[in-house]
Amino acid sequence: MTKYDLDMIDVTMPPPEYEPMRQYYFMRLCRDILGRMQAEKGRPLTCCVNTFGCQMNARDSEKLLGVLTAIGYTESEDENADLVLYNTCTVRENANIRVYGRLGHLHHYKKQNPDMLIGLCGCMMQEQKVVDKLRSSYPFVDLIFGTHNVYKLAELLYSVLSEKRRVIDIWDKAEAIVEDLPVNRKYSFKSGVNISFGCNNFCTYCIVPYVRGRERSRAPEDILKEIRALADDGVIEIMLLGQNVNSYGKDLETPMTFSELLREVEKIDGIKRIRFMTSHPKDLSDELIAVMRDSQKICRHLHLPLQSGSTKLLKAMNRKYTKEDYLALALKIRREIPEISITTDIIVGFPGETEEDFQDTLDVVRKVRYESAFTFIYSPRTGTPAAKMEQVPDKVVHDRFDRLLAEVQDIAKEVCCRDTGKTMEVLVEEVNEKDPSLLTGRLSNHIMVHFPGCPELVGRLVHVKLTSAHGFYYHGEMV
Ligand code: 5AD
Ligand code: SF4
Repeated sequence: MTKYDLDMIDVTMPPPEYEPMRQYYFMRLCRDILGRMQAEKGRPLTCCVNTFGCQMNARDSEKLLGVLTAIGYTESEDENADLVLYNTCTVRENANIRVYGRLGHLHHYKKQNPDMLIGLCGCMMQEQKVVDKLRSSYPFVDLIFGTHNVYKLAELLYSVLSEKRRVIDIWDKAEAIVEDLPVNRKYSFKSGVNISFGCNNFCTYCIVPYVRGRERSRAPEDILKEIRALADDGVIEIMLLGQNVNSYGKDLETPMTFSELLREVEKIDGIKRIRFMTSHPKDLSDELIAVMRDSQKICRHLHLPLQSGSTKLLKAMNRKYTKEDYLALALKIRREIPEISITTDIIVGFPGETEEDFQDTLDVVRKVRYESAFTFIYSPRTGTPAAKMEQVPDKVVHDRFDRLLAEVQDIAKEVCCRDTGKTMEVLVEEVNEKDPSLLTGRLSNHIMVHFPGCPELVGRLVHVKLTSAHGFYYHGEMV
């Protein structure tokens, strides 16, 4: 979906100074070049955008793909394409290692198709040492840009295409939020919606504030306008995205709370389900719990990262809550909204973690009884305070990680079967990958359900009787 007609743009004029028109101007120029290239080759040119990391990156990739398809590329899942763009993550070192590994494969494709373009963008590119390494050892990468100028893809790609040179453009901070660029959604019926960018919390292990910059809230009217347009386009589920949605709106000229924003979103006709990610426990208000409890549309799921159950480690992590604060909050939420599922993120092996600290984490896991938990091994990130602290030996960390995972999985199996026998509403998301006679969808509480049904139901809300529980998912039958 393009907001402006590229044919109407006069490219004999100099490029506009203001956004997003400037990018539409460059989209038009790219489209002209691409048209000539396709005519020469006698075939369409393909592009493949691959996303590493979180929901924010997934949403950014939809915008990148929106630009690429607007200028004439045909989307492809295959990395043996005319343009491959990796939207990278750097939250843990293994994300970086994977990118370097896969660049080797891309190089191989490029040797067979010398006109192939390879681009890298996203969080990893905001690290100086990464860009230095790419500059010196990966000359076959044509385009490198970061998180703050992702909206400039068309302009940067135009330089690559027209000047046939490598372009590296990294900004160290964000400028204004650019609205109204084209988006190519992965799903027709659900969509992420950014409500804020960046993070101000500086948890001592986390690189996000350095690579995504300070927190900036999007104007509520822009968010609501986007959601109304999505609803008009058939979207029924939205996921509001921010590193810390609970601090939304504090930086606006007219401040607004996240709960107030949710109340406005709830009023939009056509939207049936509202999700959000991620909530920092320190900022989760009673008002939000009440808004969730009283809402017909906000899903019965809260992702509430714990990180550690030890008050000593939480302090060293700069999380600004104690074990007791977290437990009281999680149990209050369970009391107010009994049908909710609570999921979390936990880091094992943060510097200074003792067996006693780890037991505190296990204790919280046992008390909150998470429906699911993402467990991570601490990964030192250059430039963050924790990277300079004394590290826990690998063997100890791996042993704790295995114990935590076993505990998390045992509990999830027990709690995720509590609705067996009930009939509940499911949003059908896709045809089951392994068995095409089955559909796969999600309950409001985010738990997955597989059941027999025809593909036309994808994107619809249906009622399913949950016949059997299998740990993290149900089998069911439509009623
Ligand atoms: N090492 C391991 N896990 C990390 N996370 C963030 N930074 C690190 C790190 N340096 C985890 C946190 C966060 C999730 C998105 O990633 O648990 O909530
Ligand atoms: Fe990282 Fe903490 Fe910000 Fe989350 S809240 S992005 S963990 S600094």
